[in-house]
Amino acid sequence: MEYHNIYIEEENQVAVITIDRPKKLNALNTTTIKELHNAFKELEEDEAIRVIIITGSGEKAFVAGADISEFAHFDVEQGKKLSASGQELLFSFVQHLSTPVIAAINGFALGGGLELAMGCHFRVASDNAKMGLPEVSLGVIPGYGGTQRLPHLVGKGIAMEMIMTAGMIDAQKALQYGLVNYVVSQEELLPLCQKLAGKILNNSGVAIAHAIKAVNAGYNNNGYPVEIDAFGSCFGTEDFKEGTQAFLEKRKAKFPGK
Ligand code: COA
Repeated sequence: MEYHNIYIEEENQVAVITIDRPKKLNALNTTTIKELHNAFKELEEDEAIRVIIITGSGEKAFVAGADISEFAHFDVEQGKKLSASGQELLFSFVQHLSTPVIAAINGFALGGGLELAMGCHFRVASDNAKMGLPEVSLGVIPGYGGTQRLPHLVGKGIAMEMIMTAGMIDAQKALQYGLVNYVVSQEELLPLCQKLAGKILNNSGVAIAHAIKAVNAGYNNNGYPVEIDAFGSCFGTEDFKEGTQAFLEKRKAKFPGK
Protein backbone atom coordinates (compact mmCIF):
# COMPACT_ATOMS: atom_id res chain seq x y z
CA MET A 1 0.00 0.00 0.00
CA GLU A 2 1.15 3.52 -0.72
CA TYR A 3 1.36 5.72 2.37
CA HIS A 4 0.89 9.50 2.46
CA ASN A 5 0.73 10.29 6.19
CA ILE A 6 3.29 7.81 7.50
CA TYR A 7 6.55 6.28 6.34
CA ILE A 8 8.34 3.09 7.29
CA GLU A 9 12.07 2.37 7.53
CA GLU A 10 13.35 -1.16 8.03
CA GLU A 11 16.78 -2.31 9.16
CA ASN A 12 18.12 -5.38 10.97
CA GLN A 13 14.66 -6.91 11.63
CA VAL A 14 13.38 -3.65 13.17
CA ALA A 15 10.80 -1.40 11.48
CA VAL A 16 10.34 2.25 12.43
CA ILE A 17 6.95 3.76 11.58
CA THR A 18 6.96 7.57 11.54
CA ILE A 19 3.66 9.44 11.58
CA ASP A 20 4.29 12.28 9.18
CA ARG A 21 1.86 15.19 9.48
CA PRO A 22 4.13 17.59 11.36
CA LYS A 23 2.15 20.71 10.37
CA LYS A 24 -0.86 19.22 12.20
CA LEU A 25 1.37 17.90 15.01
CA ASN A 26 0.81 14.40 13.58
CA ALA A 27 -2.89 14.43 14.60
CA LEU A 28 -4.62 11.16 13.78
CA ASN A 29 -7.15 11.70 11.03
CA THR A 30 -9.09 8.81 9.45
CA THR A 31 -6.57 8.30 6.66
CA THR A 32 -3.67 8.14 9.11
CA ILE A 33 -5.48 5.59 11.28
CA LYS A 34 -6.16 3.42 8.20
CA GLU A 35 -2.56 3.73 7.00
CA LEU A 36 -1.28 2.80 10.45
CA HIS A 37 -3.59 -0.21 10.53
CA ASN A 38 -2.26 -1.41 7.19
CA ALA A 39 1.34 -0.77 8.17
CA PHE A 40 1.06 -2.67 11.45
CA LYS A 41 -0.74 -5.54 9.68
CA GLU A 42 1.90 -5.76 6.94
CA LEU A 43 4.76 -5.65 9.43
CA GLU A 44 3.10 -8.24 11.69
CA GLU A 45 2.81 -10.59 8.71
CA ASP A 46 6.40 -9.94 7.59
CA GLU A 47 8.58 -12.64 9.16
CA ALA A 48 11.69 -10.52 8.58
CA ILE A 49 10.40 -7.86 11.03
CA ARG A 50 10.62 -8.74 14.73
CA VAL A 51 10.24 -5.38 16.49
CA ILE A 52 8.27 -2.25 15.55
CA ILE A 53 9.04 1.26 16.82
CA ILE A 54 6.51 4.04 16.30
CA THR A 55 7.30 7.74 16.52
CA GLY A 56 6.21 11.14 15.18
CA SER A 57 7.97 13.34 12.64
CA GLY A 58 9.40 16.71 13.63
CA GLU A 59 10.70 17.75 17.01
CA LYS A 60 7.45 18.93 18.51
CA ALA A 61 4.95 16.09 18.58
CA PHE A 62 4.51 12.35 18.76
CA VAL A 63 0.78 12.78 18.10
CA ALA A 64 -1.29 15.75 19.37
CA GLY A 65 -4.50 13.71 19.39
CA ALA A 66 -7.30 12.59 17.17
CA ASP A 67 -7.95 15.15 14.43
CA ILE A 68 -10.51 17.43 16.10
CA SER A 69 -11.54 18.98 12.77
CA GLU A 70 -12.91 15.61 11.61
CA PHE A 71 -15.32 14.91 14.47
CA ALA A 72 -16.39 18.37 15.71
CA HIS A 73 -19.79 18.02 13.93
CA PHE A 74 -20.46 14.33 14.79
CA ASP A 75 -23.69 13.08 16.43
CA VAL A 76 -24.07 10.30 19.05
CA GLU A 77 -24.04 7.40 16.58
CA GLN A 78 -21.09 8.79 14.64
CA GLY A 79 -19.24 9.29 17.94
CA LYS A 80 -19.76 5.65 18.91
CA LYS A 81 -18.61 4.44 15.50
CA LEU A 82 -15.51 6.65 15.63
CA SER A 83 -14.48 5.14 18.95
CA ALA A 84 -15.31 1.54 17.99
CA SER A 85 -13.60 1.60 14.62
CA GLY A 86 -10.52 3.43 15.96
CA GLN A 87 -10.09 0.86 18.72
CA GLU A 88 -10.54 -2.04 16.31
CA LEU A 89 -8.25 -0.68 13.60
CA LEU A 90 -5.48 0.76 15.71
CA PHE A 91 -5.48 0.99 19.49
CA SER A 92 -6.55 -2.55 20.47
CA PHE A 93 -5.04 -3.88 17.25
CA VAL A 94 -1.57 -2.71 18.30
CA GLN A 95 -1.95 -4.03 21.84
CA HIS A 96 -2.71 -7.52 20.52
CA LEU A 97 0.04 -7.73 17.90
CA SER A 98 2.49 -10.54 18.52
CA THR A 99 5.36 -8.37 17.25
CA PRO A 100 6.63 -6.14 20.08
CA VAL A 101 5.76 -2.46 19.56
CA ILE A 102 7.72 0.33 21.29
CA ALA A 103 6.37 3.90 21.35
CA ALA A 104 9.14 6.49 20.98
CA ILE A 105 7.38 9.59 22.33
CA ASN A 106 9.28 12.52 20.85
CA GLY A 107 7.04 15.43 21.92
CA PHE A 108 3.34 16.02 22.62
CA ALA A 109 1.39 12.79 23.15
CA LEU A 110 -2.11 14.05 23.82
CA GLY A 111 -5.51 12.41 23.64
CA GLY A 112 -5.40 9.81 20.87
CA GLY A 113 -1.61 10.25 20.80
CA LEU A 114 -1.20 9.12 24.39
CA GLU A 115 -3.82 6.44 23.77
CA LEU A 116 -1.77 5.16 20.83
CA ALA A 117 1.40 5.15 22.96
CA MET A 118 -0.50 3.28 25.69
CA GLY A 119 -1.69 0.68 23.17
CA CYS A 120 1.97 -0.06 22.42
CA HIS A 121 3.74 -2.69 24.51
CA PHE A 122 5.96 -0.14 26.26
CA ARG A 123 7.03 3.49 25.96
CA VAL A 124 10.21 5.58 25.93
CA ALA A 125 10.05 9.40 25.97
CA SER A 126 12.33 12.28 25.06
CA ASP A 127 12.84 14.92 27.75
CA ASN A 128 10.70 17.51 25.92
CA ALA A 129 7.67 15.17 25.77
CA LYS A 130 4.36 16.25 27.26
CA MET A 131 1.55 13.78 27.87
CA GLY A 132 -2.10 14.08 28.76
CA LEU A 133 -5.70 13.21 28.02
CA PRO A 134 -7.30 16.64 27.39
CA GLU A 135 -10.62 15.28 26.07
CA VAL A 136 -12.88 16.58 28.87
CA SER A 137 -11.69 20.09 27.99
CA LEU A 138 -13.38 19.48 24.62
CA GLY A 139 -16.57 18.09 26.21
CA VAL A 140 -15.82 14.49 25.38
CA ILE A 141 -13.97 11.61 27.08
CA PRO A 142 -10.94 9.60 25.97
CA GLY A 143 -12.52 7.15 23.52
CA TYR A 144 -9.58 5.23 22.14
CA GLY A 145 -9.03 3.13 25.26
CA GLY A 146 -7.66 5.93 27.46
CA THR A 147 -10.10 5.44 30.34
CA GLN A 148 -9.01 1.79 30.50
CA ARG A 149 -5.28 1.77 29.74
CA LEU A 150 -4.25 4.84 31.76
CA PRO A 151 -5.52 3.41 35.10
CA HIS A 152 -3.80 0.10 34.28
CA LEU A 153 -0.50 1.87 33.76
CA VAL A 154 -0.49 4.56 36.44
CA GLY A 155 -3.21 3.50 38.91
CA LYS A 156 -6.77 4.73 39.28
CA GLY A 157 -6.16 7.86 41.37
CA ILE A 158 -3.51 9.38 39.11
CA ALA A 159 -5.50 8.42 36.00
CA MET A 160 -8.62 10.06 37.42
CA GLU A 161 -6.65 13.23 38.18
CA MET A 162 -5.09 13.33 34.70
CA ILE A 163 -8.44 12.71 32.97
CA MET A 164 -10.46 15.14 35.14
CA THR A 165 -7.95 18.00 35.07
CA ALA A 166 -7.20 17.44 31.35
CA GLY A 167 -3.70 18.60 32.23
CA MET A 168 -0.35 17.70 30.72
CA ILE A 169 2.50 16.02 32.55
CA ASP A 170 6.14 16.28 31.56
CA ALA A 171 8.41 13.35 30.75
CA GLN A 172 9.94 13.15 34.24
CA LYS A 173 6.50 12.96 35.84
CA ALA A 174 5.50 10.28 33.30
CA LEU A 175 8.61 8.33 34.31
CA GLN A 176 7.73 8.70 37.99
CA TYR A 177 4.18 7.46 37.24
CA GLY A 178 5.45 4.44 35.29
CA LEU A 179 3.79 5.67 32.10
CA VAL A 180 7.15 5.58 30.29
CA ASN A 181 10.14 3.33 31.01
CA TYR A 182 12.96 5.77 30.17
CA VAL A 183 13.49 9.48 29.49
CA VAL A 184 16.38 10.55 27.27
CA SER A 185 17.26 13.51 25.01
CA GLN A 186 15.60 13.69 21.58
CA GLU A 187 18.86 12.62 19.90
CA GLU A 188 19.07 9.56 22.12
CA LEU A 189 15.43 8.52 21.77
CA LEU A 190 15.53 6.33 18.64
CA PRO A 191 19.01 4.93 19.41
CA LEU A 192 17.75 3.80 22.85
CA CYS A 193 14.63 2.23 21.28
CA GLN A 194 16.87 0.45 18.75
CA LYS A 195 19.09 -0.78 21.59
CA LEU A 196 16.05 -2.15 23.44
CA ALA A 197 14.85 -3.73 20.19
CA GLY A 198 18.29 -5.36 19.87
CA LYS A 199 17.89 -6.93 23.31
CA ILE A 200 14.45 -8.26 22.28
CA LEU A 201 15.92 -9.72 19.08
CA ASN A 202 18.20 -11.97 21.15
CA ASN A 203 15.17 -13.85 22.43
CA SER A 204 12.58 -16.24 21.02
CA GLY A 205 9.99 -14.35 18.98
CA VAL A 206 7.53 -17.21 19.44
CA ALA A 207 7.90 -17.10 23.21
CA ILE A 208 7.57 -13.30 23.20
CA ALA A 209 4.33 -13.60 21.19
CA HIS A 210 2.95 -16.03 23.79
CA ALA A 211 4.07 -13.73 26.62
CA ILE A 212 2.29 -10.72 25.05
CA LYS A 213 -0.90 -12.79 24.78
CA ALA A 214 -0.69 -13.89 28.43
CA VAL A 215 0.09 -10.39 29.76
CA ASN A 216 -2.81 -8.91 27.76
CA ALA A 217 -5.19 -11.63 29.00
CA GLY A 218 -4.51 -10.46 32.56
CA TYR A 219 -6.38 -7.27 31.71
CA ASN A 220 -9.43 -9.34 30.70
CA ASN A 221 -9.43 -11.22 34.01
CA ASN A 222 -8.28 -14.34 32.22
CA GLY A 223 -4.53 -14.17 32.69
CA TYR A 224 -3.72 -17.37 34.61
CA PRO A 225 -5.48 -19.89 32.30
CA VAL A 226 -4.05 -18.15 29.21
CA GLU A 227 -0.59 -18.21 30.78
CA ILE A 228 -0.88 -21.95 31.43
CA ASP A 229 -1.90 -22.62 27.80
CA ALA A 230 0.75 -20.31 26.38
CA PHE A 231 3.45 -21.81 28.63
CA GLY A 232 2.48 -25.31 27.48
CA SER A 233 2.42 -24.28 23.81
CA CYS A 234 6.04 -23.11 24.07
CA PHE A 235 7.10 -26.71 24.76
CA GLY A 236 5.97 -27.64 21.23
CA THR A 237 8.14 -25.02 19.50
CA GLU A 238 11.53 -25.32 17.81
CA ASP A 239 12.57 -22.15 19.64
CA PHE A 240 12.10 -23.94 22.99
CA LYS A 241 14.21 -26.91 21.85
CA GLU A 242 16.93 -24.57 20.61
CA GLY A 243 16.81 -22.28 23.68
CA THR A 244 17.09 -25.07 26.22
CA GLN A 245 19.65 -27.02 24.14
CA ALA A 246 21.82 -23.93 23.71
CA PHE A 247 21.77 -23.33 27.47
CA LEU A 248 22.82 -26.90 28.19
CA GLU A 249 25.57 -26.70 25.56
CA LYS A 250 26.75 -23.33 26.98
CA ARG A 251 26.30 -21.48 23.67
CA LYS A 252 24.16 -18.57 22.43
CA ALA A 253 20.77 -19.68 21.09
CA LYS A 254 19.99 -19.22 17.40
CA PHE A 255 16.22 -19.16 17.42
CA PRO A 256 14.53 -20.42 14.23
CA GLY A 257 11.41 -18.41 15.12
CA LYS A 258 9.08 -21.40 14.92
N1 COA B 1 -6.50 17.89 15.77
C1 COA B 1 -6.43 18.67 14.67
N2 COA B 1 -5.47 19.60 14.49
C2 COA B 1 -4.56 19.74 15.45
C3 COA B 1 -4.57 18.97 16.64
C4 COA B 1 -5.59 18.01 16.76
N3 COA B 1 -5.68 17.20 17.83
N4 COA B 1 -3.54 19.35 17.42
C5 COA B 1 -2.88 20.34 16.74
N5 COA B 1 -3.50 20.56 15.56
C6 COA B 1 -3.13 21.55 14.53
C7 COA B 1 -3.54 22.95 14.93
O1 COA B 1 -4.88 23.19 14.62
C8 COA B 1 -2.59 23.76 14.07
O2 COA B 1 -3.08 23.77 12.74
P1 COA B 1 -3.08 25.15 11.88
O3 COA B 1 -1.63 25.56 11.82
O4 COA B 1 -3.65 24.74 10.55
O5 COA B 1 -3.91 26.11 12.64
C9 COA B 1 -1.32 22.93 14.07
O6 COA B 1 -1.73 21.60 14.42
C10 COA B 1 -0.29 23.39 15.08
O7 COA B 1 -0.90 23.44 16.37
P2 COA B 1 -0.91 24.73 17.30
O8 COA B 1 -2.09 24.62 18.22
O9 COA B 1 -0.80 25.97 16.48
O10 COA B 1 0.46 24.50 18.10
P3 COA B 1 0.81 25.05 19.55
O11 COA B 1 2.26 24.81 19.74
O12 COA B 1 0.30 26.44 19.75
O13 COA B 1 -0.01 24.11 20.58
C11 COA B 1 -0.88 22.00 21.40
C12 COA B 1 0.26 22.74 20.68
C13 COA B 1 -0.57 20.52 21.32
C14 COA B 1 -0.93 22.47 22.86
C15 COA B 1 -2.22 22.34 20.71
O14 COA B 1 -2.08 22.11 19.31
C16 COA B 1 -3.38 21.53 21.19
O15 COA B 1 -3.89 21.78 22.28
N6 COA B 1 -3.85 20.55 20.38
C17 COA B 1 -5.00 19.76 20.66
C18 COA B 1 -4.71 18.72 21.72
C19 COA B 1 -5.95 17.92 22.05
O16 COA B 1 -6.90 18.42 22.61
N7 COA B 1 -5.92 16.65 21.71
C20 COA B 1 -6.97 15.74 22.01
C21 COA B 1 -7.87 15.57 20.87
S1 COA B 1 -9.19 14.43 21.26
